[in-house]
Amino acid sequence: MSGFIPKAVILEKGKEYYFCNCGKGQDQVFCNGAHKGTGKTPSKFSVDETKEYHLCTCKKSSNLPYCDGSHAK
Ligand code: FES
Repeated sequence: MSGFIPKAVILEKGKEYYFCNCGKGQDQVFCNGAHKGTGKTPSKFSVDETKEYHLCTCKKSSNLPYCDGSHAK
């Protein structure tokens, strides 16, 4: 167990989101610019349906930006 849990967020169809890949600021899942100097960049993504999604915060999911249960392994 890593101590990370996925973050439940409502995402809107057609909107562009930037998923944080650097892991800085662990209670957020979206890029806030804190990656500067880490060599990492955010991933742009969007969804086909407006609903609640569980986004990965441990960055180990093989289906980023979505949680696949890897945080519990
Ligand atoms: S703050 Fe983490 S990728 Fe931008």
